[in-house]
Amino acid sequence: MTKATEHQQFDLSGEEPLANFSGNRPFQDVAEQRYSRRHFLKGSVAAAVGTFLAGPLAGCSSTANQPATAAAINPQAAGLLGFTPVPVSRADTVAVPEGYRTQVFLPWGTPLLPGAPAFRRNGTNSAADQEQQVGSHHDGMHFFPIDLKQGGQSSSEGLLVMNHEYVDPNILHQFGGNQAPRDVEQVHKEIAAHGVSVAHIRQRPNRQWELVQDSRYNRRITGNTLMELTGPVRGHTKVITPFSPQGTRTRGTLNNCAHGVTPWGTYLTCEENWAGLFVSHDREQPREHERYSVARGMSWNQWDTAAAKDPQLARFNASKLGASARDDYRNEPNTFGWIVEIDPFNPDSTPVKHTAMGRFAHEGVIFAKAEAGKPLVAYSGDDARNEYIYKFVSAKPYQPATAGPHLLDEGTLFVARFNDDGSGDWLPLDFHNPVFQAKALAAGHIFDSQADVLLNTRLAADIMGATPMDRPEWGAVHPSTGEVYFTLTNNSQRPPEMVNAANPRAWNQNGHIIRWREGNALRFDWDIFVFSGDVFTSTPDHGLMLTNDNHHASPDGLWFDPNGLLWIQTDMAGSQLSRGPFGNNAMLAADVQSHTIKRFLVGPVGCEVTGVVMTPDCKTMFVNIQHPGEGSGPYSFSSTWPDRGITRPRSATVVITKEDGGVIGS
Ligand code: FEO
Ligand code: CA
Ligand code: CA
Repeated sequence: MTKATEHQQFDLSGEEPLANFSGNRPFQDVAEQRYSRRHFLKGSVAAAVGTFLAGPLAGCSSTANQPATAAAINPQAAGLLGFTPVPVSRADTVAVPEGYRTQVFLPWGTPLLPGAPAFRRNGTNSAADQEQQVGSHHDGMHFFPIDLKQGGQSSSEGLLVMNHEYVDPNILHQFGGNQAPRDVEQVHKEIAAHGVSVAHIRQRPNRQWELVQDSRYNRRITGNTLMELTGPVRGHTKVITPFSPQGTRTRGTLNNCAHGVTPWGTYLTCEENWAGLFVSHDREQPREHERYSVARGMSWNQWDTAAAKDPQLARFNASKLGASARDDYRNEPNTFGWIVEIDPFNPDSTPVKHTAMGRFAHEGVIFAKAEAGKPLVAYSGDDARNEYIYKFVSAKPYQPATAGPHLLDEGTLFVARFNDDGSGDWLPLDFHNPVFQAKALAAGHIFDSQADVLLNTRLAADIMGATPMDRPEWGAVHPSTGEVYFTLTNNSQRPPEMVNAANPRAWNQNGHIIRWREGNALRFDWDIFVFSGDVFTSTPDHGLMLTNDNHHASPDGLWFDPNGLLWIQTDMAGSQLSRGPFGNNAMLAADVQSHTIKRFLVGPVGCEVTGVVMTPDCKTMFVNIQHPGEGSGPYSFSSTWPDRGITRPRSATVVITKEDGGVIGS
């Protein structure tokens, strides 16, 4: 999400509000100490090959017919990264390498449910229409083969599930969003454009993809869909609302950025910038609001201002207005900030918010490879300046035959501390842990239960001494080595005393990608995979210097394909996007062993490139183009992608195939 233009409280770099004043030592400081040390590097190849020999990878074959395991260890030798890099561009189009073709698919407003009304290019679709159409601002996404539950791996039919992160009222409505008090119909259309789409899709013989009309799987989940709270916070007094006096339910999921996929074939959608959609006018705000930047004075979209005409919308005002939590929506924001599970194969299922996985600005969630008999492990980043990276470890072991949502309701949440010497520690946020209790007491904070700790995940992480990071975005786990990669998109407003004079590349403006390898107990080893930036930006530990073929900034989306290629998507904003050397936002592919990186795709004007997945045969790729023409409208638009003419721009999925039918990335 780039929020530079639509939300005034963000600066032109598109950064999140600073909410961490804990004084924990910033990551820049640690990275400076770490920079010349090479603990991680020494074991890298050996560890990779060791894992390779120990267990084959269930990937897809490359055009060179190499086994997928070999591709994952050495993608280039297996015929991958053979494409000619795409140059930087400011054209209002999607550019891909020669030999590839694209198809625009499922743009915002596409009729999705049976009988859904057609999309109107002038923005006059109603809220009721929008509830039946594909949402706006496409983001994280996964392809579930239609035969997955029968053990199949179809690459020609499946359920494409995607998040719709936010809305741009100037594009969503015919004449843009109105002033407060907001119009009820506009507010409901905006809420309906958020959430998730489940789309049953298939490939025709001509290799074009189509929506399966009238499929029972086609589904919209919106900011108003009924959800259950599960895990320790379910029933806690801080989630009691007039809607759910028992504290067990809430309505909707909002600002869903990236996603995750469970080993049992369900979709996880992650609530990122929900806090700005709520407002509190109270002089004193509870820590559950304060540490997450719940808006004061005015929320982003001012949905609460329509409550006088529609009491349903009172829930966006978190002020104390009544006698108790049963009389007002002071606790409504506490029912957001979670990871939400959706079963795309069960259209009647109620989405579940898994509170054991913590409450913060979840960018996404990525699982380590699930191993029978061992706990499940999942990582999630908190995308705001100087926030943290977390790891959830299930209490019960993973067993393929019985695995299910219950595994995400009981476990331990850890937060990362990156040490100067290249090691790291996972610090437990555990109410019952004596170390946590002692530190909380010493810091003057009292928690009444693990539920209270989870509601205040950021505060608990402060207390344990986690390392503040440069806005953690997506994570990715290498399919063979198990190494974990995370994008740290940027943090351009670090104080001057944190500038690294010996390394004046301003990488805080451009971001970088960190990675780690799990060690024994709760230790890990880390290093920097790449410093993003302009041409000649170097990552000395790896002898890597960026060129015209791969310079980039603000890495955000991140995904390993089954062949071990790392796909990196960028989300520049503000002047970096409009005037920088990087052109429009882009997607690159990387061979992480050789540190070879090539630009694969450049998006249209004003967009961010986010969300990427392939069919199991790796011959179809789906990529999301979010907010083309951002900041323009309602009367003229800086992008007309993808419909052209004088029409408004639309977020959409792009389907990418090779003209020769080969593997994507070859
Ligand atoms: Fe929604 Fe952090 O990007
Ligand atoms: Ca993102
Ligand atoms: Ca971003």
